[in-house]
Amino acid sequence: MAEVPIVKPKDINLQTHRFILRPLTEDDAGDLYKNVKEYDIARWLVNLPYPYPDDGAIKYIKQCQELMKKGESYELAIQLKSTEEVIGVMAFVRVDKKHKNAELGYWTAKKYWSQGIATEAGMRILEFGFDVLNLERIYSKCFCENTASKRVMEKLGMAYEGKSRHEVFKENRFIDLFYYAIIREDWETGR
Ligand SMILES: CC(C)(COP(=O)(O)OP(=O)(O)OC[C@H]1O[C@@H](n2cnc3c(N)ncnc32)[C@H](O)[C@@H]1OP(=O)(O)O)[C@@H](O)C(=O)NCCC(=O)NCCS
Repeated sequence: MAEVPIVKPKDINLQTHRFILRPLTEDDAGDLYKNVKEYDIARWLVNLPYPYPDDGAIKYIKQCQELMKKGESYELAIQLKSTEEVIGVMAFVRVDKKHKNAELGYWTAKKYWSQGIATEAGMRILEFGFDVLNLERIYSKCFCENTASKRVMEKLGMAYEGKSRHEVFKENRFIDLFYYAIIREDWETGR
């Protein structure tokens, strides 16, 4: 069984039809801040603060760079080829090398919603996860009310695995999460 390698940031440049997925750099802080500070993004993400602090993007990018060096996470900018704007993040937010699995997380800028962006970027990072990181399982979770995210996971070929009740405490209430996952066998079958 192949090991899960640590892929160097300089070697990550994933192309799709409309985007480049590549490591975040400090230069992306402006685009990130502009897009991620909206409440409609923050409300669905477990740990994203709202209001978003002015220095939040730069701190986040530095943290991502440290984790990527160790192969513990791969948080990739979704950069539009047409304008070079960074319009979201597609990420393996947690990589477990021993058990060969990773958690998928993502967001896209509100003005671009429902144009297939998360799905197009998600398919590409799944390919990276199975073909380059040699993962066996990729899972994701969303708030049960997050219909758009649930739909993205379905379109990525992930299977519903169950509900985790009251997993998150946010905005003064407990929130249930849906879990979805895709394993190597499903991925190979769907190719
Ligand atoms: C979830 C999110 C990443 C989806 O991004 P996106 O680029 O719009 O995704 P896609 O266009 O690939 O797919 C979205 C799907 O959800 C559907 N959708 C969007 N809003 C919906 C709603 N309120 N009810 C039902 N379906 C909805 C779209 O129609 C589309 O499905 P379709 O292709 O079958 O028509 C984006 O909405 C987002 O960033 N949300 C805030 C952060 C977040 O929720 N992140 C995920 C945390 S688990």
